[in-house]
Amino acid sequence: MVREWDPRTASSAEIVSMLDTLNAVLAVDLPQDPPWRESSLREYLAEVMPGERRISWVAQAEPATDGTPGALLGQVNVLLLGNIGVLEVLVHPAARRTGLGRDLVLRAARRVYQEGFESIGVEVVGDTPAIAFYESLGFSREYVETRSVLDLSAVDWAELAEMSTGVGAGYHVQFHPGGPPDELIEAYARAKAEIRDIEDGELRPSSYDSQRLRDSLDCLHRRGMKPYIVLALHEQTGEVAGLTEVVVPAQHPTRADQYDTIVVQDHRGYGIDRAIKARMLMELRSAEPQLTEVQTWNAQANEAMLKVNAELGYRPDRDWCEYSVDVADLVHRLDNSR
Ligand SMILES: CC(C)(COP(=O)(O)OP(=O)(O)OC[C@H]1O[C@@H](n2cnc3c(N)ncnc32)[C@H](O)[C@@H]1OP(=O)(O)O)[C@@H](O)C(=O)NCCC(=O)NCCS
Repeated sequence: MVREWDPRTASSAEIVSMLDTLNAVLAVDLPQDPPWRESSLREYLAEVMPGERRISWVAQAEPATDGTPGALLGQVNVLLLGNIGVLEVLVHPAARRTGLGRDLVLRAARRVYQEGFESIGVEVVGDTPAIAFYESLGFSREYVETRSVLDLSAVDWAELAEMSTGVGAGYHVQFHPGGPPDELIEAYARAKAEIRDIEDGELRPSSYDSQRLRDSLDCLHRRGMKPYIVLALHEQTGEVAGLTEVVVPAQHPTRADQYDTIVVQDHRGYGIDRAIKARMLMELRSAEPQLTEVQTWNAQANEAMLKVNAELGYRPDRDWCEYSVDVADLVHRLDNSR
């Protein structure tokens, strides 16, 4: 049975069942990834940025003979932002190839269509069944990034300490757990607006103005994801010359996510990129002692960023693809194939 589902009001048993399905999916599709924990999972599924909406449906197994509710074997959610619906679909490995994934997508696509949105986008992990699934539904590949993972146990910390100090004269590197301090929010947002070395895909927009930046930090905190920031201040102007962002999610606190890294055009060539990333890793080592890995996503054309990441010890792991489809086409195709 597929039904609309609201994580804010779902029972604890349903949240746990969702977690079991997610971890069963990870175990077969991404066995090197750490399993997720229940910590802040409800908030992770429920909280969104102002102006955005996430709508979810679940597929639930039949109740047991004693009346115990059935497990949640599948889930779809769509995040409505701007003019696009961003889709996420999960089907328990034991329930695959029965048409459930297709049914879940149809359910979400119909709503996205009714709401007047034109297209649906989805992130798809390379080398998993999801590639054939979305291609069978007529989605086309828009963009490919590489996910890389840094194993912190293999890091040469003495070398890293040296890298962290290798920044040109006239810059001051600062570490800010929780986000940039209020007095730097404007300068921080300006740096993000001016230029961005894309470490995130199109489906994960970055924050360009100070209000959106505040909202985005607030949303991260509400979802149980702790942001850490290292920035390089240009001493002469007080401008933010470079920044790097890492988030430690309560749901998988041993593997952190690297978000944006930006060096503003005028400040390139002074070793800022390498120095701020090295400083971040050193700070995280003491701030988050349970951390064992950091993952990052890079455009394959971004050679400068890939070179610095390789020096830091990141190893390429998987392709991470963005697919999209016209909603009206998708709904008609799926309706006609039933
Ligand atoms: C992708 C996914 C949702 C598919 O769910 P599903 O219920 O098995 O899909 P369906 O049964 O509706 O399949 C529809 C069509 O997709 C294609 N397809 C699905 N799985 C496939 C596979 N393993 N190989 C080839 N084609 C496949 C087929 O054309 C299939 O039609 P068919 O069975 O009639 O041949 C499921 O594999 C899944 O949850 N993957 C994890 C997704 C994810 O987000 N992971 C994130 C962490 S890795």
